[in-house]
Amino acid sequence: MISNLSFRYGLLFSIFSLLFSCAPEPPAKGAVVSAREEASKIGVAIMKKGGNAFDAMIATDFALAVCYPNAGNIAGGGFAVYRHSNSEMGSLDYREKAPLAAYAEMYLDESGNVIPKKSTFGGLSVGVPGTVAGLEAIHQRFGSLPWKDLVQPAIDLARNGYRVTEKQQQSFESNKEEFIQMNGEHTLYAQNFKAGDLVKNNALAITLERIAEQGSAGFYQGKNAEALISRVQETGGVITFADLNAYQPVWRDPIHFKYKDLDIYTMGPPSSGGICLGQIMKMIEPFDIGQYKQNSLEAVQIMVEAERRSYADRSLYLGDPDFVQVPKDSLLDVNYLNQRMATFSFDRATLSSDINPGTIVWEESEETTHYSILDSMGNAVAVTTTLNGSYGSKVFVDSGGYFLNNEMDDFSSKPGVPNMFGLLGGKANAIAPEKRMLSAMTPTLVLKNGALSMIVGTPGGSTIITSVLQTILNVYEFEMTLQEAVNAPRFHHQWLPDLVTFEPKRFDAGFIQKMQAKGYDIKEEYSRIIGRVDGIHISEENEITTGADPRGDDKAVLFY
Ligand code: GLY
Repeated sequence: MISNLSFRYGLLFSIFSLLFSCAPEPPAKGAVVSAREEASKIGVAIMKKGGNAFDAMIATDFALAVCYPNAGNIAGGGFAVYRHSNSEMGSLDYREKAPLAAYAEMYLDESGNVIPKKSTFGGLSVGVPGTVAGLEAIHQRFGSLPWKDLVQPAIDLARNGYRVTEKQQQSFESNKEEFIQMNGEHTLYAQNFKAGDLVKNNALAITLERIAEQGSAGFYQGKNAEALISRVQETGGVITFADLNAYQPVWRDPIHFKYKDLDIYTMGPPSSGGICLGQIMKMIEPFDIGQYKQNSLEAVQIMVEAERRSYADRSLYLGDPDFVQVPKDSLLDVNYLNQRMATFSFDRATLSSDINPGTIVWEESEETTHYSILDSMGNAVAVTTTLNGSYGSKVFVDSGGYFLNNEMDDFSSKPGVPNMFGLLGGKANAIAPEKRMLSAMTPTLVLKNGALSMIVGTPGGSTIITSVLQTILNVYEFEMTLQEAVNAPRFHHQWLPDLVTFEPKRFDAGFIQKMQAKGYDIKEEYSRIIGRVDGIHISEENEITTGADPRGDDKAVLFY
């Protein structure tokens, strides 16, 4: 009798479970896509508590500062491009600034030559951080949950620990020597963490508690300011209390341009991202690139040639709009852009020396991170934030548990000499006190026929712009899903050096040979991963899908 009853209950339970597991997922109401699962989950948890996308942004950002220390940060800077549910479009610039004591020749020796590593390694490479002030500004304007509640998940993550991934283990190993050189052998990230290990960062938990209690004053004043300044100064830097006190983020109009039935909103100067993306897309538009296959010879040629012309303009005209006049409208003028492409022929590569002369060396890509957030009310944020190089200047504030940026390298230390991304800059991007260094970060929102359609961005230094471009074209011209678009092989060109970089082993030899036959210089030794794109797509039927880049540990978490 008993066994018969339990059999029947068992059967009923199985039927219920089966029905339950077969029930279709309800449609997602929002999503967070970031470089780490922990951070994406924290962002979604905030939305589940009733927070909006801006609240989720703050929580996600602080979480990345804990578990993605190569680029997530509290001592770096970034840009956010947003769409409010009331349809307002805007952007916040919380880019780092040059210290008051900075000057144009600060990285040059007596003969006027750039001193190697001075703008990338150590205290003098550190720009005045903007992240905490930026997040606070977002909260003051758009936040709906208490600030403390948004910082708390990151405090818990720092205190309880996060798991090291395989990729992270490699990253710690390859930077260990420099961590030790800068910070001594007891520094946290030189402790040989292996994949699966738990990293607890109690010092960062305490710093975050100060920020939770005091807001940005917990970072820019008091104990943290003292620790930051003394660490910068003992490693050769010049940041003072006056710099920290003076830091202010700036609300700016995003760059807006049309491409067919799309309205694209993206970051303007001091990022070059938006203007370059706009120039490239407007140069491509007349070619109706969708008639060619994705990554076909013709499609790649059109994109490379538009990129060549835009990156040449970047080096001459772009800088901090609070210091130099950026001819934004002229650079995005359709007649000007059509004229720029007039010299393009499918028969033969244009030589970069015919666009503008120069010779430079390409160096390895460094790190930044991007995340995309959508909430159930229709608020959307695309955020790209950075320490510049992986782990920034490598200067670790031991008592605070965080790395300092090396964003000063994004200035042009000397006109005509490339930065770590091989990018050239001119006078417009020369160093001056309190100036913001030129960026390539391109957090972007796409509207289709007036409705929000995509939130997208990526790290990747100079390859940020071209990775965002390819993702957008893959979806809207080559009809891929966002995840397919993100996964697709990428290539990059940036005027100088005059070569095209293809992701390793992702383009077949026949294709590469055809490019070479057209006169394109392809140096396979420079091949590398290009970008780590994280995005959200909203279909015309309102279906939310995501793209999290498999090149990293990136993860999309949907909000139901
Ligand atoms: N530091 C990378 C960028 O801002 O483009």
